[in-house]
Amino acid sequence: MTDTSAAAAGTPYGTLPPASPLPQRRPVSLPRLAQMREAGEKITMLTAYDATFAAVADAAGVECILVGDSLGMVCQGLPSTVGVALDTMAYHTESVVRGLQRVQGTAWVVADLPFASYHESREQALRSASRLMQAGAHMVKLEGGGWTAPTVQFLVERGIPVCAHLGLTPQTVHALGGYRVQGKGDQAAQQLRRHALELQDAGAAMLVLEMVPAVLASDLTQALPRCHTIGIGAGSGTAGQVLVMHDMLGINLGKNPKFVRDFMQGAGSVRGAIEAYVQAVKNGSFPDNAQHAW
Ligand code: KIV
Repeated sequence: MTDTSAAAAGTPYGTLPPASPLPQRRPVSLPRLAQMREAGEKITMLTAYDATFAAVADAAGVECILVGDSLGMVCQGLPSTVGVALDTMAYHTESVVRGLQRVQGTAWVVADLPFASYHESREQALRSASRLMQAGAHMVKLEGGGWTAPTVQFLVERGIPVCAHLGLTPQTVHALGGYRVQGKGDQAAQQLRRHALELQDAGAAMLVLEMVPAVLASDLTQALPRCHTIGIGAGSGTAGQVLVMHDMLGINLGKNPKFVRDFMQGAGSVRGAIEAYVQAVKNGSFPDNAQHAW
């Protein structure tokens, strides 16, 4: 007999499957990430901005999902991340978290505090961070070193896990003069190192290092036992790696940066591409310092 039920027909518009009552995997947590680091297992992070891609990334084994303000460029068509609003970050964070909940996802969700949402005062940062935590994030990320350390401490003391971001910090692209490698030369490297140590002391549990020389990123990783370094264009010596999902799927509307590999090539499906990314990070074949780093 032909099954004419809605289930047999499939669900429209990428609808996620209904939640099953028996979660199979343990949720990713800060202690779990610390255990992975201690065991020498690389941490994988990938951006996602909506329910479906978040669920696919989770199913493919990504431990951390970053609701990055790169959504300004990827989803909103903005020229940089500077124009992204806190409301927009909250909207996308809610979407990602709902997607994960629908599939009993286990990923750790990091949400970006956008430009000008934490710059005014520590109190403003707390209000903005609370908004993203109430949208379902497990951790917030903010850019910059030096002036940000007291803000990080203020948030961490109030129970908000913080990921810092040094090196190429896209929210300050205009001040930096473009998307360029940072931390080159002794003075710049020393300043980056000082900022990273201050952020660890302030309680940051994670640190994205973007477009910094591989040797420096590897050295910082050794110097930061309590703060997991997550590299993007920072070589293979960091505790983990992150990429923008659309870049690694080869659907960047411009030219992919040097540090990206197109994992869609030969993968056959989005899930296959993300699984290949996870595997390559775990087995150390991505990034390849000769090709993807400085
Ligand atoms: O916004 C983002 O996607 C990011 C990554 C590039 C690390 O910050």
